[in-house]
Amino acid sequence: MNRIPTREELARTGSLEELYGKLGQINIGPGWAKATPSLWTSPRKTFAPAHWKYNQARGALDAAGRLINTELAERRNLILFNPAADNGYGTVRTMVAAYQMIMPGEWARAHRHTPNALRLILDSEPGTYTEVDGVKIAMEPGDVLLTPNWSSHGHGNNSRACAYWLDFLDVPLVQLLEPMFFEPAEEESDEESGDAAPTKESAFVFALADTLKRLDAATPEPAGPFGTHVELGDPAMETIGLHMMRLSPRVTTAATQTTANNIYAVVKGAGSTTVDGERFEWNRGDVIAAPAWRPHFHEAAEDALVLRVTDEPVMRRLGFLRVQEPAQAH
Ligand SMILES: [Fe+2]
Repeated sequence: MNRIPTREELARTGSLEELYGKLGQINIGPGWAKATPSLWTSPRKTFAPAHWKYNQARGALDAAGRLINTELAERRNLILFNPAADNGYGTVRTMVAAYQMIMPGEWARAHRHTPNALRLILDSEPGTYTEVDGVKIAMEPGDVLLTPNWSSHGHGNNSRACAYWLDFLDVPLVQLLEPMFFEPAEEESDEESGDAAPTKESAFVFALADTLKRLDAATPEPAGPFGTHVELGDPAMETIGLHMMRLSPRVTTAATQTTANNIYAVVKGAGSTTVDGERFEWNRGDVIAAPAWRPHFHEAAEDALVLRVTDEPVMRRLGFLRVQEPAQAH
């Protein structure tokens, strides 16, 4: 059994090897002999460029609809985990995206948590809603709906069709920083808001119709790094910024390289995004991960709308945001 070395025993140590052994017993490591460096010259690009297809996710969700209900699952969702080594959860370092489906008549019970969340609605019929802090908010395709830190939220579907959407959360960041809290809501049904019709009069929703009007009025920047774009919120949430991008057909956007992590979700159209030399051909509902420091650019094949979900607010507030035009050409 190892004995804790005294000051005198440490001071008498005759070799470095012996010193390392004694230090190890008191949880101290020699900074000059680390196995791996602690600092490096530029971001390591730990997370990989990646692409997920809505078509495939829909098939899998339809199977899950037969195989598991919302009583058991709480959320019937499919996590888009980055294929980087040793990763089984995050889509990029700080955020995770997931496809989710709720069937007619189902209620995904309410809960709240410190991670910030938002959803981008892909396919739904009137009657599908999210109840946020007791208020039913209608979910229509192209809408973006926020459930920030500690807001209670459950999902209901009174329509006749399955509803599909994309979730984005800052759970990986909260796991890293540790302030995780979660609790189920006391109400186990949507009785709280009764038969009230779902509304869009809420600070938590960015309706597609409003976003399109704002895009029409925005300064055209088809060749800018994010095409013509507007920000939803300022930022939408403490840790996540949202930007709706309109891409013009066959215009290549300027490449950008940033310490922020970006996830792109296709609201409309088709095109491609090239991330650090890997080209991904996307269609509506697809998701592309452009992790930190991966240079990337877009080219739409037809009029396209793409939602950019980014941890820029985190990087900016902490003084870590660096953005540059990458050295290499397209
Ligand atoms: Fe949640």
